Amino acid sequence: MGTVEYASVEESGLSDSLFRKFTELLQSLSGITLKDYKKYLMEYRLQKLVGPGKRFEGFEDLYRALMSDSGNLRAEFVNVLTTNYTYFYREEVHFRFLSHYLRTKASAQPYLRFWSAACSSGEEAYSMAITTAEEGILEKHRDVKILATDISLRVLEFAQKGVYPYHRIRGHVPDGYLKKYFFFDRHTNTFTVREPLKSLVAFRYLNLMGPYPFQKQFDVVFLRNVLIYFDTREKEQILSNIFSVMKLGGYLVLGLSESLVGVRHSFTPLKHSIYRKDVSNT
Ligand SMILES: C[S@@+](CC[C@H](N)C(=O)[O-])C[C@H]1O[C@@H](n2cnc3c(N)ncnc32)[C@H](O)[C@@H]1O
Repeated sequence: MGTVEYASVEESGLSDSLFRKFTELLQSLSGITLKDYKKYLMEYRLQKLVGPGKRFEGFEDLYRALMSDSGNLRAEFVNVLTTNYTYFYREEVHFRFLSHYLRTKASAQPYLRFWSAACSSGEEAYSMAITTAEEGILEKHRDVKILATDISLRVLEFAQKGVYPYHRIRGHVPDGYLKKYFFFDRHTNTFTVREPLKSLVAFRYLNLMGPYPFQKQFDVVFLRNVLIYFDTREKEQILSNIFSVMKLGGYLVLGLSESLVGVRHSFTPLKHSIYRKDVSNT
C-alpha cells in the first residue's frame, strides 16, 4: 500500500519551485534547511498529507492551506518533515508481529533481546516494551531487555525521561494501556512511563555505521524509517553489521514503505518489510 502511494505521488511530482517554497517555509518555521538532494525525501514524507485518500490531493493544495494556516497544520508540516518524526505504535502491524514472536518463540530462548535501532524520542521502544508486557513475558522470563539507540543525543535525552505530552500520545495508545503503563500528571498534561516498563528499555548513543559493541544477540531488530538516509553502500554495511549481531532465526523489521531492492544483504525476505536471519545464509 505504501509503495503504491509512493509511486502515485512520484508521478504527480513535486515541482522544483514548490519544493523551494516548502523548503523556505520549513526553514522559517523550524530553522531546518533541506539540501536539494532531499527533494525526493520531502515528496516521500509529505505523502502523509498529500495523495489519494489523504487530506490534500496535490502539493499545491497543501501549500495553499499552509499559507492560510496559523497553527496546527504548520506544526504537522514541520513534524512530518523532521527526521526524528515518530509516534507510539507507528506501523502497528509490526507490534502484532512482535506479539506473535513472543507467543511462539520466546519460551525457547534462554534470553530475549530486542533492539529499536534509530529509536528517536523513544515511542517505538516503549511500544515494544508494552507489547512485551502485554504478552506476560516479564513474569515468565528473567533475562529480557530492549535496547534503544539513536545518533541524536537530543532525542535520547528526551526518550530516557519517558515523559510524553498528551498531544503526542493521543490517538496512538489505547486508554487501557495509558492507565496501566503511564502516570498522568494533570498539571502538565503529560504521561510518564512507569516501572517496570521504564527500566526494561535502555537508551544508548549508537551510530548505525558502527561499531556495534554488543555482548548478546538480538531476537528482533526494528530498523524502521532510517535506511532512507543512507546510500546503497552504507545500507549494505548497516545490514551486514546488524546481521552479525542477531540470533539465528531472529527477525529484522524495516519501515513499511522501505525496500531492499538493489541492496545486497544476507537476510531471507519473509513478508513485506520483515526479514529473517537463516542458517543457510550464515
Ligand atoms: C524518522 S526517525 C525513526 C524513528 C522510529 N524508528 C520510527 O520508525 O518511528 C529516524 C531516526 O534515525 C536517526 N538516525 C539517523 N541517522 C542515524 C545513524 N547514522 N545512526 C543512528 N541513528 C540515526 C535519527 O536521529 C532519527 O531519530
